[in-house]
Amino acid sequence: MTTRTIFTTILSAVALTATADNLRIATPNTELLLSGEQGRQLNFVYYGHRLSTADEQALEAVETKTDAYPAYGMFELTERAIAATHCDGNQTLRLTYSGSSQTQDGGATTTIVTLRDEYYPFTVKLCYKTYTDADVIEQWAEISHTEKKAVLLRQYASGYLPILRGNVWLTQFGPNENNDEFDLATERLIGGMRVIKNLDGIRNTRTCNPDVMFSLDGEPQENSGRVIAATLCYSGPYKVRIDTEKDSYHHFFSGINEENATYTLQPKEIFRTPVLAYTYSTEGQGGASRNFHRWARSHSLAHGHQLRNTLLNSWEGVGLDTYEPVMKQMMDDAAGLGLEQFVMDDGWFGNACPRNDTSTGLGDWYPNPQKLPSGVGALTDYARQKGLKFGIWIEPEMVNTQSELYRAHPDWIVKAPHREMIYGRGHTQAVLDLSKPEVQDHVFGVVDRLMTDNPDIAYMKWDCNTAIQNQGSEYSLAGRQPHLYIEYHRGLAKVLDRVRAKYPDLTIQLCAGGGGRVNYGLLKYFDGFWTSDNTDAYQRVFIQYGASYFYPAVAMAAHVSAAPNGSTGRQVPLKYRIDVAMSGRMGFELQPKHMTDEDKATSRRAIADYKSIREVVQQGDLYRLVSPFKATGQASLMYVSPDKSRAAWFWYMTEFRRGQHYARVPLTGLARDKRYRVRELNPSANAPLAIDGQVFGGGYLIDNGLPIPDNFRVYQSAGGFASRVVALEEVK
Ligand code: DGJ
Repeated sequence: MTTRTIFTTILSAVALTATADNLRIATPNTELLLSGEQGRQLNFVYYGHRLSTADEQALEAVETKTDAYPAYGMFELTERAIAATHCDGNQTLRLTYSGSSQTQDGGATTTIVTLRDEYYPFTVKLCYKTYTDADVIEQWAEISHTEKKAVLLRQYASGYLPILRGNVWLTQFGPNENNDEFDLATERLIGGMRVIKNLDGIRNTRTCNPDVMFSLDGEPQENSGRVIAATLCYSGPYKVRIDTEKDSYHHFFSGINEENATYTLQPKEIFRTPVLAYTYSTEGQGGASRNFHRWARSHSLAHGHQLRNTLLNSWEGVGLDTYEPVMKQMMDDAAGLGLEQFVMDDGWFGNACPRNDTSTGLGDWYPNPQKLPSGVGALTDYARQKGLKFGIWIEPEMVNTQSELYRAHPDWIVKAPHREMIYGRGHTQAVLDLSKPEVQDHVFGVVDRLMTDNPDIAYMKWDCNTAIQNQGSEYSLAGRQPHLYIEYHRGLAKVLDRVRAKYPDLTIQLCAGGGGRVNYGLLKYFDGFWTSDNTDAYQRVFIQYGASYFYPAVAMAAHVSAAPNGSTGRQVPLKYRIDVAMSGRMGFELQPKHMTDEDKATSRRAIADYKSIREVVQQGDLYRLVSPFKATGQASLMYVSPDKSRAAWFWYMTEFRRGQHYARVPLTGLARDKRYRVRELNPSANAPLAIDGQVFGGGYLIDNGLPIPDNFRVYQSAGGFASRVVALEEVK
């Protein structure tokens, strides 16, 4: 089919006004309608559930039309998507519709709507990408001009959506602390501006996240009500604005944070904003999350449909003591537990400046001969003998001043001119200036050399532990300092493109002192993320629950660590720690040498149990059942296979008072007409569920859930940390 035919086929069905081009950007269940008349403002008409042709035609009478990409300058001074200063100093824009096109590539359709300034040769292309298998619209803008000299972009949102006012609630995540990521907060939108933003430079979810959900029918519901959910697919500083004034809409804008990044756009240069991804669901927040998860697995997460390995990571077990015998002992134990992969974390590198504490070594990515006298190769060989895959930790965007790299290239770091340097972690850590091509080559070279020298490396954990604290680039970008953050992230994307082109099968984990950098700008390159440095299972119930609003379990690393926990000091029983890890991509992060034989046996059985439900957890549809944030004393969620023949149900006690009653949890998400056999996984030694092995109708379970014994002695023995994991399998 040619581009033209598609255009006619898709657009002719929409007939809002006779003279306008009426544009439908459609996903299987949703659509965005725009309407443009040559020389006039492009109008937003509708975003919501897919409409019939008759309904689309009727919209003309009912929908107020509003500017689809408001520009600064000509009308009332409210929030705008774009603001620019032309080469002659004029600060206004007046964008008018000048045409559109659609192209198809496999299951993806891209619609491009062109807006031109009435007077200046200034163009904005609004681009929308949709897929036949996902209810998410990806939107971005491409801005260019042919003025005589450069134009200053003062604001340049990726996208804008007007959301009809009413009883609209905002759900957001954060403010995040390192160790308390994805803290969920919700509030009714009232008048004025809501701004959620980041200025960190490189770890953009270290503060809040650019992920927002709008519940359009009052307080957020999990399984009902209309929801619009959106996230900015970008790794750098972002700004989300929600402006509510006197008109009919909450005006929602999302894009790069322009506060430290005004952009000087040269003639003929095309400025492409990051993608804003959004979805619409009538099945509440749960439906919006499932839409995002499906889209992510198919289009925005590396290897989204592949099952992830269980693993042991060395960090919490041995810290920087990554000595060869220790690594081998950990691999012995990992194999003994039935884990599939071993990851050697921080500590293994540096020669002149060995990484014996966090102030040295970053940049010198070759094995420390004191710790690894036979190199990394000896470990990958050992892993292979043990039947394990091997992974390694790097932090390639960073350098310690105590390193051979820094001594050779002191001019490679991000540093503001004429200012004293401010260092990060270890008081010597600096950020390499990825706006420089030679630094991009270096960072790509870190991965390339490790992979060339050790082709058996299957996994890399890519960490990032310092913010940009010196807002400037002393050695490049002369006269273009505000471009630093943008060029940094362009540089990072170039490096990651090269890594992925050469090593498409490598598994790469995204980490920034935990979940300080979780965004879909990066996840298209990464297989998953380290959810938090906080591995306290109790707090992980909250963190993982919050993360699940936008990110699927296949991407979410959840590790069993030692007790008492290093972050919180909490003493959580092994069963609870395992049960929490089982609801994500399960791993272990402790020194297994210190486990009792009984704990090892429990863990071995639980790892086997996890493998039996891994596909449902990692590829199934998530149903959040009880939110820990609602403080009812319990939390619960379940995953259901797409054909609803299998499910995995998780239940966690989050509060314990003697005599407290825990309401039964309806198992939403099952099929009413199917029958399921329930099997308890990782059962509690002193109180296995009595219903184990029994068969129940889906309808019964949806309405009534399963009984969790209100047995005080069981909970007391666990110090109030009771939990259950139940597998459900269809019985024909
Ligand atoms: C921060 C990460 O979040 C940890 O998991 C660990 O890799 C350390 N860095 C190592 O320095």
